[in-house]
Amino acid sequence: MAETTPFYITTAISYPNGRPHIGHAYEAIAADVIARFQRLSGRRVRFQTGTDEHGLKMARKAEEQGRTPSDLADEMSGYFREMCDALNVSYDRFIRTSEPDHHRASQAIWQAMEAAGDLYLDRYEGWYSVRDEAYYDASELVEGEGGEKLSPQGTPVEWTVEESWFFRLSKYQDQLLELLKSPGFLEPASRRNEMIAFVEQGLRDLSVSRTSFDWGVKVPGSEGHVMYVWVDALTNYLTGLGYPDDMGDMWPASLHLIGKDIVRFHTIYWPAFLMSANLPVPQKVFGHGFLLNRGQKESKSLGNVTDPLELAERFGVDALRYFLMREVAFGQDGSYSPEAIVQRANGELGNAFGNLAQRTLGFIAKNLDGYLPAIRGHDAADTALFESVDRAITTEIPQAFENLALQQAVEAWLQAVFACNAYIDAQAPWTLRKTDPERMETVLATLYICIAQLAVAISPVIPASSAKLLDMLGVPEELRNLEGIRSHWYSPLAESDYQIIAPTPLFPRRELPAEDA
Ligand code: MF3
Repeated sequence: MAETTPFYITTAISYPNGRPHIGHAYEAIAADVIARFQRLSGRRVRFQTGTDEHGLKMARKAEEQGRTPSDLADEMSGYFREMCDALNVSYDRFIRTSEPDHHRASQAIWQAMEAAGDLYLDRYEGWYSVRDEAYYDASELVEGEGGEKLSPQGTPVEWTVEESWFFRLSKYQDQLLELLKSPGFLEPASRRNEMIAFVEQGLRDLSVSRTSFDWGVKVPGSEGHVMYVWVDALTNYLTGLGYPDDMGDMWPASLHLIGKDIVRFHTIYWPAFLMSANLPVPQKVFGHGFLLNRGQKESKSLGNVTDPLELAERFGVDALRYFLMREVAFGQDGSYSPEAIVQRANGELGNAFGNLAQRTLGFIAKNLDGYLPAIRGHDAADTALFESVDRAITTEIPQAFENLALQQAVEAWLQAVFACNAYIDAQAPWTLRKTDPERMETVLATLYICIAQLAVAISPVIPASSAKLLDMLGVPEELRNLEGIRSHWYSPLAESDYQIIAPTPLFPRRELPAEDA
């Protein structure tokens, strides 16, 4: 039965103070894979991503470049959207926090917090990291190499004194502890202890407005104050659903997918704002790891910053998507390199899956004039293959996706692909062609069905290639989901006059450019 509970998934929204890097691509792709999987299993999905345009970091970067923050945001936000489009990221809304409906939503949540008695005016005196857009307690700071003070993330901090609105974070301490301890709210579970410790050590009220600059959402009724950028940023998740108007049935979000460095904002500040505004908290926050370039963090000073679109162009969008999901245990840090991408793409997508499809379809095109093979009773080998593919597509792959074990989902798929390869080698249709043409047809039909099922199951990861293969196979659109592809679609198709034309390769072999070899 199709799952009908709605599924709302979001990525963090990115600061458009520069162009997107591989980490942004990684998060967008992972969220897209999850969104596509949920659609495949029949759920109504809403998927939001976008750019986080206010704050001091944006204001300063614009000033450095002698332009207005809104001009900088317009240009850079465009690159983020382009990146999502080029990588086949199927968002329903790409939100920009400079949009009018977002200002309205942010002011509404502010007023709700104010009505709850949770906002008061005071003076902020303390440390602030512009890079993190975060306040830190002196006790959290670490010492840099030159003895300078750094945030726990290693970014510079500056002493800040200004009049500010405060949010009564301390009031939510007990509720937050309970939330953080509830299983499933924050994953991977390994990130839980740090947040629990932070709350247990006692929460201080949070400064939530700024008066020293004006690039932000205006605080309603408080001349000279703009909201602390995280207050408006987090609210983007509500704006996209229509807050403060009727949000339909998509709130609370099913999943906020974010990087591990911003877990504090999402599992402490954000739930507290929502509790104050009397709104339900998100069902799950997942903090993924960082992607390293050959084991190193990318940075301008190391000169190893990678343009994700360049990677996609060199290796193919689906190869890149596949690689990222396949290589990295989701939730942990991972590493990538051109060699590793080429190796996975050629070995697993090209040789294991692409060749399987190519051989099977090519054989049908050549020996049966492209007419689909008939089934004349299955033997034990066929049944065994059907069983392993069925187990993969009904149980192993969906369960892994559902648990956000994205790497395991791909591994389960790959095992089923290997089973098909072992089957084709053992059954040797090229020999049967002479000795037993009827059995040859059954073998080809068995493979045909399994290949279509595996194309559907992996479509969240490699959507364009899967669609191309399913087109070649003649599988109707409405069957391209986990439920439909199990049904008896093959016989009607085989009996129709559908004909395969010579298949085109799905995953052209990639070579390493000389400089990377
Ligand atoms: N712009 C922030 C960052 O890149 C993330 C904002 S996510 C949101 O670290 F929740 F606040 F929207």
